[in-house]
Amino acid sequence: MSSDHVLLMRRQLAGTLAAPAWPEGVTLQQLGLKPNRKLLQEAHAVLTSGYWEGGGGAPIFRQWWKALSRDDEFDPALFFIAVDKEGVAGLAQCWTSAFVKDLAVAPRMRSRGLGRALMLAAFNAFAQRGAPHVDLKVREDNTPAIALYKSLGMRMIERLRA
Ligand SMILES: CC(C)(COP(=O)(O)OP(=O)(O)OC[C@H]1O[C@@H](n2cnc3c(N)ncnc32)[C@H](O)[C@@H]1OP(=O)(O)O)[C@@H](O)C(=O)NCCC(=O)NCCS
Repeated sequence: MSSDHVLLMRRQLAGTLAAPAWPEGVTLQQLGLKPNRKLLQEAHAVLTSGYWEGGGGAPIFRQWWKALSRDDEFDPALFFIAVDKEGVAGLAQCWTSAFVKDLAVAPRMRSRGLGRALMLAAFNAFAQRGAPHVDLKVREDNTPAIALYKSLGMRMIERLRA
């Protein structure tokens, strides 16, 4: 399978959506208007480790946060950060265009349903905002992520050069 292509995947949001089921001990942290820097740095660290596995590269913290927080499509209410007693366990950062930009779960928390719960939190938020569908891009060799997205009802709508 080629790794220089990404799949654009979509899920319609009409109808009933399941509520997120958070793994035990995990809660969702809302990113306030004055975000907690330590929380953000931990989230960036989880994202960075996930990026290498997902096949991309992440900018250093300061560049990342500056670009993110100034983006027209950024909304702190769409940055879902899951925490437990050890710190950030996973995150989903989404754009206001109903697009899941980044999803990453800390290796210590994988395969416990956290990725699914974060995606469902995003789906429900977009549905409440009246979005007709939610989109994302994933590298076509990222088998675990594609399996998760398909099991959440997402379908490939386009194959694009990365
Ligand atoms: C993809 C990722 C977010 C999944 O997170 P997770 O919390 O482990 O996923 P969940 O526990 O919610 O798994 C839900 C479903 O995903 C699929 N899945 C998750 N891990 C998988 C694996 N290693 N192999 C195959 N399928 C997998 C399965 O369909 C699973 O369903 P099941 O629970 O019935 O078996 C996580 O592996 C990760 O952070 N990867 C690195 C970053 C990345 O690739 N992000 C996506 C970029 S588009």
